[in-house]
Amino acid sequence: MDTVGSEVILTIKGVSKSFPGVRALDGVSVDVRRGTVHGIVGENGAGKSTLMKILSGVYQKDSGKVVFDGQTIEHTTPQESMHRGLAIIYQELNLVNTMSVGENIFLGRFKEMKGMRGTHAKAGELLESIGCKISTSKLVSELSVSEKQMVEIAKALSFKSKLIIMDEPSSSLTGEEMCELIKIIHQLKAQGISIIYISHKLDEIFDFCDIVTVMRDGHVIDTKPKVDFTRDDLITKMVGRTIENEYPERPRCAGDTLMEVQSINTHKLHDISFTLRKGEILGLVGLVGAGRTEIVRALYGADKVRGHRVLIKGKPVTIRNPKEAKDAGFGFIPEDRKLQGLVLPFSVESNISMASISNFSKFGFIRKSLEKGIGTRQVKALNVKTPSTRVPVRNLSGGNQQKCIVGRWMEISPSIFIMDEPTKGIDVGAKYEIYSLMKEIAERGGAIILISSELPEVLNMSNRVLTIFEGRITGEFDPESTSVDKIMKAALGIVGGCA
Ligand SMILES: Nc1ncnc2c1ncn2[C@@H]1O[C@H](COP(=O)(O)OP(=O)(O)OP(=O)(O)O)[C@@H](O)[C@H]1O
Ligand SMILES: [Mg+2]
Repeated sequence: MDTVGSEVILTIKGVSKSFPGVRALDGVSVDVRRGTVHGIVGENGAGKSTLMKILSGVYQKDSGKVVFDGQTIEHTTPQESMHRGLAIIYQELNLVNTMSVGENIFLGRFKEMKGMRGTHAKAGELLESIGCKISTSKLVSELSVSEKQMVEIAKALSFKSKLIIMDEPSSSLTGEEMCELIKIIHQLKAQGISIIYISHKLDEIFDFCDIVTVMRDGHVIDTKPKVDFTRDDLITKMVGRTIENEYPERPRCAGDTLMEVQSINTHKLHDISFTLRKGEILGLVGLVGAGRTEIVRALYGADKVRGHRVLIKGKPVTIRNPKEAKDAGFGFIPEDRKLQGLVLPFSVESNISMASISNFSKFGFIRKSLEKGIGTRQVKALNVKTPSTRVPVRNLSGGNQQKCIVGRWMEISPSIFIMDEPTKGIDVGAKYEIYSLMKEIAERGGAIILISSELPEVLNMSNRVLTIFEGRITGEFDPESTSVDKIMKAALGIVGGCA
């Protein structure tokens, strides 16, 4: 195996970790080799992030052994592990927004850098070494997610990291930004740095990982070179059963017009008009930033937009805010669920039931038992991994938190359901459950507007797609009879069209 290094940089042996009611890791053993990209995959709640947090010193293991770069690591802190050469880049990036790029990279080490001038000079060198041209004096708050990631990587390099952990780094990146990240990963690898790469996007795993570990229910199921896995094999090992298809058959739509949208105009959107039929899944395809999210936010009353008309079942409706949208029969899974959806200290059941029982009294017994009933039903339907519906939602793994938001809206069964990246961070098995629910909503006579950066998802689930480019609708297609190429061209603004 010429691409796969032989020297072991990290040994994890028999590591276990429990939280109240959950055995998150149960005797996990993995070796990571120098200069390799080591992919880790597994269902939501499999224990991936917990293992990484143990390595980086956020959590302490209950038992087992960790040897990093020849040193046995007992108790460690994030600070210590960073200095030892093990860096972790979280999805919720850890930078100080109000400080500059350079200051963030050398936070607390300005003296070592001989003051601010040295800090910025060295920070600039590090950024340049990964081909990044951000000015070191720019405030972090002004950066895009991908630029922030670059700063985190430069910071990791400033500690001469030998191992960099990336926990779902790609879920907020555009295609182009992802290409940048892949380039950097290759560069790091060439310098002998190892990367642990966690992702639910199997294409990425097959694209650039060397070795892959599959985890399930706190166990390691298998570790082997990527080339020895097939996609089916990997999925089967992840979910513990064979999945015949990644997508259910798309719903058969034949209904009447349910909603008509006429002329949404904002500084970003230009004359957006379309119809939505009963029983239909309508996909919006476009690049990140093309205006897809703005369209649905305008519809939902999340952004103040005036001047357009919305007719539901032929009757004009006024939607000035999300409450009016909900009353008009809309449901909305927003793109950024952490910020817009969950109340992290509240229980799983109260988060799930929040929208459906808002009319009941705030206190009292009935509300409590309703909450519990609703929570239990959705936890079961979406297979949310949690020891009980009473635990704070913040204790759940990333993907399971997302399922709670999906469950909240499923409970209301809105007639027009807007889903902006509904499967972001969700594992393959659970995605199928969400797709099946989408199909069910459509077959009950509801309609869905679907936005997703995963093109196969939109193309496999939608009855019809609209391509959006620079705030305009550039095409309308039947994804069953149109080539992907044609749709992509319209989404990239190259040609418009209908099919
Ligand atoms: N601080 C915590 N308190 C209680 N339970 C926790 C805590 N952190 C994680 N868990 C539990 O440990 C298990 C593993 O969670 P972890 O976050 O490691 O999963 P994951 O594999 O990263 O999943 P995802 O793909 O959804 O990110 C889950 O059942 C989760 O609920
Ligand atoms: Mg995780």
